[in-house]
Parts: sequence; C-alpha cells; structure tokens
Amino acid sequence: MTKTIYLTTPLYYVNASPHIGHSYTQVAADALARYHRLAGREVFLLTGTDEHGQKIAQAAAAAGKPPQAFVDEVGERFKSLWKMLDIAYDDFIRTTEPRHVQAVQQILTRLKDAGKLARAEYQGWYCTPDETFWTEAELVTHGISTSAPVCPTCQRALEPAKEEGWYLRLRANQEWLRAFVAAHPDFVRPQTRYHELLGLLEQPLPEYLCITRPKSRVTWGIAVPFAPEHVVYVWFDALLNYITAPGYVDDPVRFARLWPAEVHLIGKDILRHHALYWPIMLHELGMTDAQMPRIFAHGWWRIGEQKMSKSLGNIVDPAAVVGGLLHGQPFAADAYRYFLLREISFGQDGSFSEVAILKRLNMDLGNDVGNLVHRTLSMTERYFAGQLAFQPIGHLDAISGARAMADGAVALHASYVQRMESLDFSGALEAVMALATQANQFIEASAPWKLAKQPEARAQLTQVFAVLGDVLKTLSVYLTPFMPLVGAAIWAQLGLPGRPERLSDAAWSTAAGERRIAAEHPVLFPRMDMEKLEHV
Ligand code: MSP
Repeated sequence: MTKTIYLTTPLYYVNASPHIGHSYTQVAADALARYHRLAGREVFLLTGTDEHGQKIAQAAAAAGKPPQAFVDEVGERFKSLWKMLDIAYDDFIRTTEPRHVQAVQQILTRLKDAGKLARAEYQGWYCTPDETFWTEAELVTHGISTSAPVCPTCQRALEPAKEEGWYLRLRANQEWLRAFVAAHPDFVRPQTRYHELLGLLEQPLPEYLCITRPKSRVTWGIAVPFAPEHVVYVWFDALLNYITAPGYVDDPVRFARLWPAEVHLIGKDILRHHALYWPIMLHELGMTDAQMPRIFAHGWWRIGEQKMSKSLGNIVDPAAVVGGLLHGQPFAADAYRYFLLREISFGQDGSFSEVAILKRLNMDLGNDVGNLVHRTLSMTERYFAGQLAFQPIGHLDAISGARAMADGAVALHASYVQRMESLDFSGALEAVMALATQANQFIEASAPWKLAKQPEARAQLTQVFAVLGDVLKTLSVYLTPFMPLVGAAIWAQLGLPGRPERLSDAAWSTAAGERRIAAEHPVLFPRMDMEKLEHV
C-alpha cells in the first residue's frame, strides 16, 4: 500500500473574514498539493475552519447572532474565497460538525480511561484573546510581574481566574519530546523555527496544559463527556482535526493510509501549539515516533512596514485584490497566487503593497512569460501559418543557442523538483522564470524577424520555433502548481490536448513533427497602468 501524501492547513478562525495571511497558507498548501499530484502521487489536502471558543462566541455576540448561525455565515466567506483562488482541497472540516465533535469526545474518553489526564484546580491568570490560562509560576518564568500581569504571548492584560478542570501532562513528556526533536531535525522547518523549538524545550515546560474550560466562562465548545460542567479547550479541539478528518476514530484503514501528515503548514505564530502540544497529545494517544507528523512554519505578511491589524484598519482582503486591484486581468487569481509565493521566500516575513503586486504582474508575468508566449505564437502564425514544429534535442544544431536553450529547459527539472520538495516556492519560481528570461534572450539573439526574410534560412527559423515551443510546454507544466489556469492556458494555446497532468509532460520532444497552435492566443497578462494607483 503506497502512502498518500497528507497535507494540512491550519483551521482558520471564523471570527472575521479571511485576509491575505489566511490566503497565504492556503495558496502554499494548494501549490504543494498540485505539485505532488503532478509528480504522480496520491494527495490528500485537508483544510477547514476553527469554530469554537470564546473569541468566536464574542464575535457572534457582537454581530448579534447565535454562534452557530454566525460561524455558518463567516465560514462561507472562507469557502468562497478558496473557490475564487482555485484551491483544490480534498476535505474541509468544520470543528462544529458532528463527525469531529464525536471523534473529539471519544479521544478524550480514551485519554481519560488510559489515565493520561489529570484533574486539578489552579489559581492563575487568563488571556481572553489567546484563550490561554497562565499559572503564576509560568508568568514568573517569563519574567512577568504578577501585580499587573500581561500575557507572555500577546502582551495584553490578563484577568484573574481559577481553573478547575482536566489537564494534559506537558512536563512529564518533555524529555521524550526533547529527544524526539533532537533526533529529527526535519520535524520543524525552516531551520530558524526548529531552533526556536529547541529553545522552548531548553526551559522547563509548564507542568500541565488545561484542556477543558468551565462552562461558567466558556459555553461555545465541545461538551466534555465525563465532565458535563466543562467544554473542551478550543486548541485541543482544533488540533485534533488533523486526525479526526482522516478517520482516526472511525476508519482505521483510511487513517493508516493517510497518517502521519507529510506536512502541517502553519504560520510561525502557532508553532508552540503545533510543535509542543500536538506531538505530546499524539504521544499520549500512544503514537510512536514514526507516527509523528512534520511541520513547516511560514513567515508573516506585513502591510508596507506595518503589522496587519484591525485597529490599524489595514487588513488586506484577497477578494478585493483579485476582484478590485487586478480587475480586468484574465488570470487575476493566478497572478495573486504567483505574487504570494514569489515575493517572499517561504519561511520569511515580507511586505505586501499594491505597487509590489503590480510590478510582479507587469514585469515577471507580463514582460517575461506573457510576452514570450505571445510573440512566439504570433510569429508562428505569421511565418508558419500556425504550424509549430517540434524537434528532438539531437536535431538542435541548425541555430546557435538552440542546444543551450534545450539543455536549460531539461536541467530545470532537477532544480525545480529539489526546490519544490523543500517547499522553496520562491526558489522554484525563480528558476522557472529564469528559463523564460533565457528564452526571451534566445529570441533576441536569433532574431527570427531577420531569418524570416531569408528564404535560405528556413531550417534555422523552424528550429527557433521548435525550441520555443518545447520551452513553453516546459514552462506551462512547471507553472501549473502556482498558476493552474495560466499553465493550462499556455498548454492549450500551444495546441496541446487537455492540460498538464504530469511533471513528465515537460519532457523535451523525442520525435520530430509539427502541430497546429490554437487559433486564438489572447494576451495572458495585459499591462496594468501603475499610474492609476492613487498613492504612487
Ligand atoms: N485557529 C487557529 C489554528 C488552529 S489549527 C489547528 C488559528 N487561526 S487563524 O485564523 O488565526 O490563523 C490561521 C493562519 O493564518 C495561521 O497559520 C497564521 O499564521 C496565518 N496568518 C494570520 N495572519 C498572518 C499574516 N499577517 N501573514 C501570514 N500568515 C498569517 O491560528
């Protein structure tokens, strides 16, 4: 039985509409899933929404709606954005769905029956926005004064709280986790985050993580089956989605095919939950080291130089970028996807601005790719009545630079694969775009418009376009994970049937022949007028 590649995104909080940060994790996950599918692998991409907890209950109250109606409504905004951005997920789990609620309750019962949960009462402090309970001892470890304590994570004021409930043992599992992490340097990527985790593990962990909340404080949550006066802590509930959706409780055969996740894609802000609590939860459930998932924590988007926040009023709505700023672009969603994954290296922080996205659109997409496709196909129409030749590499000796161009396209495969496998999306795109640049230079150097005027240069002219045709085919395949519609459009404009399905579709032609290009080949990325930006 071959293992399915199992990829996950965080479950997004539905307390407000999706923004650029959410779309970033989502687009990265989708590009990775599409890459693995192109590589011929079975893939299961899971996403969904995190719908419980006080934060959501408060947002629902502020909107004057019952929590369930509120999360139904906001959840739809996420789904429709994923549709707009062409996110091909295999399952969408909502934490309020019965399949998840029941599985969480069974898992809790199993843990309790196995003696893995402790019952206790704690006096301490509570951070409402983070939904985190802090003991005095923990605050002291973080160097925080207990006279006017603030949350060690978000620096906001804490409220006094007495927490009675059920606890997961953290400290008792610390040694196991430390050894596991030390032995598996790929457990968390990129390296900076791995080192951050090692740092967290050097300090003693809090003894316990409280995984229940008294109903007197939080009502919007999954009922604890053996403690009716409590609901499940929202993070404990949400993390479990990664195993409830693939069938941990009710479908062990399916679960065995999917688990462990090849990668949980997350943002760097939720590393602690995923790299400390989650493996400990899995370990307490009896999973072995070989059953531990892997994590990649990406960086954050700033808006210009600012942090994106409600109070600054600078939240970027992806639908407004795609439908507003990029209005009129035939491939607006693809251009947005490209920008997100090209602009910053995956794992680092970066800055969003309208100018930056338009520059990428005009320069990389318009000048490099769009122009290359357009001039190649227009000249094919003009000089060859739309018949595009293809030739195997061994034939490429009629014109200087042809062989180097083909070698460049063939060599791209290894660097592309290596970068995609290590989630270096911007690196992969950089390599792909370098091929487009090389092809534009090849056109300039071989000057087909001059060759076309010399009847004796027909063989050279044919070869220029045979080379360009195969280069464009290669580009269309490698761009597909990032820009699925653009990849398919280039493919179709070349007169190829269907759409790119496999990485091997990028292989250079092995026989000579010719093919009719599509009758229509509209410009892929019409130039955007930068002057129109109000604040430029
Ligand atoms: N509900 C939790 C996750 C539970 S997973 C079991 C959560 N949700 S969230 O909606 O607040 O965040 C979801 C993802 O969006 C996180 O990976 C977070 O890092 C990402 N982003 C939120 N703002 C972001 C930026 N400004 N930039 C990049 N990504 C950021 O956390």
